[in-house]
Amino acid sequence: MITQLVINWQQSHGRHQLPWQQDVTPYKVLVSELMLQQTQVATVIPYFQRWMQIFPTVQALAAAPEDEVMRLWQGLGYYARARNLQKAARFITQLGEFPATLEALLQVPGVGRYTAGAIMSFAYQQHGPIVDGNVRRLYCRLFALEGVPNTPALEKQLWAKAEQLTPQHQEPHADCRAFAQGLLDLGATVCKPRQPLCEQCPLASHCQALAQHRISDFPNAKPKKIVPVKEGHFLLVRKAQQVLLVKRPGAGIWPALWCLPQPAQAPLNAELVGEFSHQFTHYKLQAKVWSAEVSMAEAEQAWIDAANLADFGLPAPVRVYLEALLEA
Ligand code: ADE
Repeated sequence: MITQLVINWQQSHGRHQLPWQQDVTPYKVLVSELMLQQTQVATVIPYFQRWMQIFPTVQALAAAPEDEVMRLWQGLGYYARARNLQKAARFITQLGEFPATLEALLQVPGVGRYTAGAIMSFAYQQHGPIVDGNVRRLYCRLFALEGVPNTPALEKQLWAKAEQLTPQHQEPHADCRAFAQGLLDLGATVCKPRQPLCEQCPLASHCQALAQHRISDFPNAKPKKIVPVKEGHFLLVRKAQQVLLVKRPGAGIWPALWCLPQPAQAPLNAELVGEFSHQFTHYKLQAKVWSAEVSMAEAEQAWIDAANLADFGLPAPVRVYLEALLEA
């Protein structure tokens, strides 16, 4: 049902004039899919056309000097793709014929599950499941699939859906190419990341996210990293207008900076006189400042005039806290 709706929609509303859709060959599909991996269709078109003029066959690409290959890729970015493409061309040329099964395609360097599926569907009109960013978004919405993109649990479900829905070429009316192109076209033009055009979607009556009014929940967003909070204790020892600072060790956080003395635990019989916090990369420091008498530790220490704080290297949050305190 869903499969046929996608095929019908592609035939009447999908894209048919893209240069890699004309006189399709497996080589054209390989080149276009690699170019399209990180780059918009409109950008790829002139690159693809020029590429096909200069390297019209897989053998031509295999034999080309690497400099020439890189020069033609110039501007598309992600240059590893160009090197992979030439590696793939050399591998296929050595084989003597273009691989024509999913298993054989997956042996080609640089060809993953998506590209192999695309070549099967587009070039051979055969069963070739595909999941890329567009298809992922469409399936996550259609089936209200929970899970974060690129996590194994979700990817497994997506590829299982793709396997189920992708036509087998023996099926009557199975237009494997139209199905794959339909998914990509729907994802790019209707089931868009923002403001999808659900009223134009042939799958709207099947879409679970739409039925639940939760389109924007899918695909699920990556959760924000939860950073642990650590409590830290600082002693405030004052003498008239001076505070006692200690030089921190040369390693660890705030290396060799001057700081309030830091007991490992909250001191007994001390009064809590202030708090501040600071976000480190891996944790949040929640600082408690205690007013206390201390015995002088062995570390280098100094009584610092409030006016001279600027002359000492202090951790920023400690400086901010002290400046506010001493100003008052
Ligand atoms: N994006 C990735 N592959 C595509 C294709 N064959 N046509 C249009 N957009 C695409």
